[in-house]
Formats: sequence, C-alpha cells, structure tokens
Amino acid sequence: GSGGDGGSEQTITAGTAPGFPPFEMKEGGELVGFDIDLLEAVVEQTDYSFEGWEEFEFDSLIPALTNNNIDVIAAGMTINEKRDDTIDFSDPYYSSDQAIVVRADGDFAPESLSDLADRPIGAQKGTTGEGVVQDELVGQEITESQYNAYDNYVLAIQDLENGNVDAVVIDVPVANTFAANRPVEVAFVYETGEKFGFGVRTDDDARQEALNAGLSTVREDGTYEELTQKWFGE
Ligand code: ARG
Repeated sequence: GSGGDGGSEQTITAGTAPGFPPFEMKEGGELVGFDIDLLEAVVEQTDYSFEGWEEFEFDSLIPALTNNNIDVIAAGMTINEKRDDTIDFSDPYYSSDQAIVVRADGDFAPESLSDLADRPIGAQKGTTGEGVVQDELVGQEITESQYNAYDNYVLAIQDLENGNVDAVVIDVPVANTFAANRPVEVAFVYETGEKFGFGVRTDDDARQEALNAGLSTVREDGTYEELTQKWFGE
C-alpha cells in the first residue's frame, strides 16, 4: 500500500508454485490459473490491497509464509493436520483426490496401488501425492529408491513420458489437465477426500477472516462459478 511504514499491514503478497495446471501455470511468461484468478477476486472483496505474486517450489511455500516473505499461499494446497500445526487455512475452495497417471500407450494399466509393485513412481516434493507414495507404497510395494521426488510436477510428467518413471501420483484435476494436453492418462483414482484452502500464518486471524468473507462473497455473486467454468469447464 501507499501508507508508508506499517502499510504492509493492509496488503497481501501471495505465493504460489506454478506447474500445477489449471490452478497455477506459466503461459507466455505470465502466471495464470484458477488460484490466480480466485485469490485476486477474493482479495478484491476485502480491505487488503493486492501487492502481487511470488513464485516458489511447492515445498518452499510454508517456510516463505512463516518467514513473512508472503502473506497468503494459493497453490492448490490441501488442508491437512500436518500443515495445520504450522499454518492456518481459509475455508475450503476446491475438492480433490489423487490420480495415478501413466503413459497413454496402454502398456501399463494399473488398477490399484498393489499393481504399482516394483515400479519407479514419481510425485512432487512436499505434496500429498508424495504422502500417498511414502505411506502406501515405499517399504511395501516399492523400495525407497524407486520413489522419484520432483521439485515440480511438470518434471515428473516429463519423466513419465520419457519412461524414467511408470506412474505419477498427482491431484485429479491436474492429472486431467495433463491428460488433455500430453500423452498421459489417468489409470485410476485413489480417494483421499482432500480440500484445498488458502494458507495464512497461524497468528493472522485478520487475513484468515477477510479471505473467508471474500470467498463467501465470490461464491454468492457468481464469480466462483464463472472461474470454475473458465478453468475446469464445469
Ligand atoms: N494438493 C496437493 C498438496 O497440497 C498438491 C499441491 C501442489 N501444488 C502446486 N502448486 N504445485 O500437497
């Protein structure tokens, strides 16, 4: 804001991790996506002025928030208990499960997690998809070295196309977007019942309440529906 020292109290700098279409991605050098539009529309409904976006790898977002480099995380981030210890979340704004994505050539068509036995598997570092791999596969179906952790899901999908991994565990709506644009497909869905929220600092009740109020306004005034149409065609 223009308030000089202390003006930062009424501003929001947001952090995201592009490479997660259609929530956040780079198009012609520009940051675009559902989260980008939604958070900006929500902040518009508040007394906060929007200062802009900072980009991080997904697993650097929570430290960036707690270090005050950003004020809000908008990154398709699942609200879960582990994260709840360090940060707080807005009300949920989207639901997701995990998809197991494979090459579209049809040679490998797993139907359940046990079908992934002894295969190299990829996910993005710090995600709930990685959590599924660590909790359900490593030490059971696959060895630790068969898990390939990527800074970015785009790299994971590239490695899937290249044959360096045989499956990627990734949020369903993002899996569907990759499947629409690249030679990969969803083999099956592993139900996790996740809900995405905007992350805020635990002591920042003011921004949390402002975002929740803004979210309910954009749901009521049709903006939310417009944005889901625009980005998910639903
Ligand atoms: N929903 C998953 C999680 O919270 C994945 C989010 C990844 N987001 C991103 N922008 N790369 O862990």
